[in-house]
Amino acid sequence: MVYETFNEFRSDTFTVPSKEMLESATQCSVGDSVYKEDADTLELEEYVSHLAGKKAGLFCCSGTMSNQIALRTHLFQPPHRILCDYRSHVFSHEAGGLATLSQAMVTPVIPSNGLYLTLDDIVENFIPDDGDIHMAPTKVISLENTLSGIIFPVEELERISHWCHKNGIKLHCDGARLWNAAAETGVSLGDYCKFFDSVSLCLSKSLGAPIGSVLVGSRQFIEKANHFKKQNGGGLRQCGMLSRMGLIAVKENYSKLAETHKWAKDFGHWCGQNGIALEVPVMTNFVFLDPKKVKLNPTVFHDCSKKFNVKAMGDRIAFHFQNTPEAIENLKKALLEAYKDSLVNPYTYKGVPRLYRASSSSSESTMVADHEKLSTKVL
Ligand SMILES: Cc1ncc(COP(=O)(O)O)c(C=O)c1O
Repeated sequence: MVYETFNEFRSDTFTVPSKEMLESATQCSVGDSVYKEDADTLELEEYVSHLAGKKAGLFCCSGTMSNQIALRTHLFQPPHRILCDYRSHVFSHEAGGLATLSQAMVTPVIPSNGLYLTLDDIVENFIPDDGDIHMAPTKVISLENTLSGIIFPVEELERISHWCHKNGIKLHCDGARLWNAAAETGVSLGDYCKFFDSVSLCLSKSLGAPIGSVLVGSRQFIEKANHFKKQNGGGLRQCGMLSRMGLIAVKENYSKLAETHKWAKDFGHWCGQNGIALEVPVMTNFVFLDPKKVKLNPTVFHDCSKKFNVKAMGDRIAFHFQNTPEAIENLKKALLEAYKDSLVNPYTYKGVPRLYRASSSSSESTMVADHEKLSTKVL
């Protein structure tokens, strides 16, 4: 059965392996990767770590595993703390893993510019290891690039990285979609990764592999991370078929991302023309509707989507390389119909915490102004 994704806008994780990718799996190596004897997995780890400019890579079954074992590896003995954006996946969508796996306190910070954390945000919320026994000191900063499709400016990463280095603080990047940032800005993956001690790069989102992430860092770091991977049940035996598909995903699909950003930006522009407010500027493959202003009834949006043969959900619209221009036109029809309904019957979320949302302190004008600054900085 061919699972159709041309009309899938719920997430870029719904991308599916191509026929060629699946066929390549039948030619894969079948060594035991726990013993580091699987040729395709070694090749994938080498290929991605080389792209990222790091000494070593570790194939993990998911981005969650890769992030969580990375942060665990950077931490030694509690009491300790991780500082991150309050919307970051490691904090808000990894099932409380930081508390259980790392026994870490978290400082979730609301970016003062409404888009991305700055060094000033970090310094303001940083807890030093200065002997105050009431505190759990900050040992790791975890950034996410892209976050809600927003690209971190290189200059800010440089400032943060320099400061972390000077202060002995480890810096991790959840780079599930760092591919998108690199594809959009032309800054190479290596030039992004050089600022971080560790980076988690997902293969199963925009790139279309069925499963997997590669964690990259120094050789010593990756050896220890492999220990935690095994401890958490992540030792993969004959996983060559997955690695082979992951390699094809990077080699064949990375170059397709830029077009998906163009689709998303055009769609964002169309939203503006139709009065549909956005929460953050569109920089890569996501369009976030502003739930404070666009009060779509989820059931109505679902029904309209069904009517126009597209799959959409919530306030986030995700674009990926398996979409088609026709499906995007249908999505516009579905959204417009649901939006018109919302003007007559505005929907209010009840009892659902809106944690995974942009800062309430960010006004639209600040965001637009910042976005303009950003694009001149990153391009
Ligand atoms: C930014 C980000 N990081 C990490 C993950 C976790 O990846 P996985 O679903 O492979 O565990 C996701 C999943 O969507 C994500 O969006």
